[in-house]
Amino acid sequence: MTRSENLKDESTFIRPVVIGGLEFPKNIFLAPLAGVTDLPFRLLCKEQGAVFAYTEMISAKGVHYKSVNSFELAATVPEEQPVGVQLFGSEPEIMAEAAKLFAERGAPLIDINMGCPMRKITGNGEGSALMRSPELIERIVAAVAEALTPFGVPVTVKMRRGFDSGNETCVECALAAERGGAAAVTVHGRFREEYYSGKSDWTAVRRVKEAVRVPVILSGDVVDAATLEAAMAVSGADGVAIGRGAMGNPWIFRILSGAGGPPSLSEKEAVIEKHVRLLRQYKGELTAASEFRKHVLWYLKGLRGSASVRDKVCKTESVDEILRIIRSYFRDLNDSVPVN
Ligand SMILES: Cc1cc2nc3c(=O)[nH]c(=O)nc-3n(C[C@H](O)[C@H](O)[C@H](O)COP(=O)(O)O)c2cc1C
Repeated sequence: MTRSENLKDESTFIRPVVIGGLEFPKNIFLAPLAGVTDLPFRLLCKEQGAVFAYTEMISAKGVHYKSVNSFELAATVPEEQPVGVQLFGSEPEIMAEAAKLFAERGAPLIDINMGCPMRKITGNGEGSALMRSPELIERIVAAVAEALTPFGVPVTVKMRRGFDSGNETCVECALAAERGGAAAVTVHGRFREEYYSGKSDWTAVRRVKEAVRVPVILSGDVVDAATLEAAMAVSGADGVAIGRGAMGNPWIFRILSGAGGPPSLSEKEAVIEKHVRLLRQYKGELTAASEFRKHVLWYLKGLRGSASVRDKVCKTESVDEILRIIRSYFRDLNDSVPVN
């Protein structure tokens, strides 16, 4: 029996989850990843079984000042719904205003970023800097919750273990968010200074789970069935949000939920080509070509002879040319696979 078949039977890990009245048939989500989880990538992950996804983080201040970029980041289509809109900011009124605007436009859930470690964000007291101020967290969440009440839209938060290394504040911050009206808490078990290095501490997620009544979603280092099983067992979490494990690997959702196995080479090729086309459709030729460069690295990691493809893809600004490069690479790869 394979691990994924094993997991299918282990319904203790894969199960439905309800967040603020939204019912999800499975508890495996796509985590927000700035620069990665845009509309094309979310569509591909949804196709592979991600039941819920978030936008990249969007500046509430940017929304307030009508920045085009903020609205572009929120671009969506009906077939990918439900998708949560993730906002970052530190001013309760501005956050509430942005949350209301997206609720008016049909967002089914608003998530608040309390985990971003980047200096340009934390320097403004936003992202993971909020982990130093449970009182402010409560006020932000309460303001957003109040703005969303008329729409029946829940607010959730996504946090880290804490800001300063060694000073774990996720339990008090999660309790503050819950008092403010958060319908769920996602916890990434690293301190701000760790960025994405070292290991995510799943026991921190357990401490939050034992403290709050709302669902707790685990984030951090779940990349396959074994890490999913271990993370869920250690943390007792209600669900998991997959981040880096989905980069170049949208199939992770069907694998983890026991709905399928790893892709064949031809399926991989088809999804990669679809990704490039979706990027062109939603972002235009030039942006598609430049943004696809990072995705191709992830998709082809570990595949034979992929370095030259990456070089070629990085040199062209034409989507048709990228498609030709990918097709010819997979044709050569298929030709060289021994037939039994
Ligand atoms: C490139 C990148 C971008 C990220 N962007 C966001 C973001 O916009 N909002 C957020 O809450 N977390 C963001 N994160 C954190 C992830 O959602 C996740 O919590 C973290 O990567 C740990 O999970 P993983 O090990 O599954 O990647 C980002 C992480 C990475 C690597």
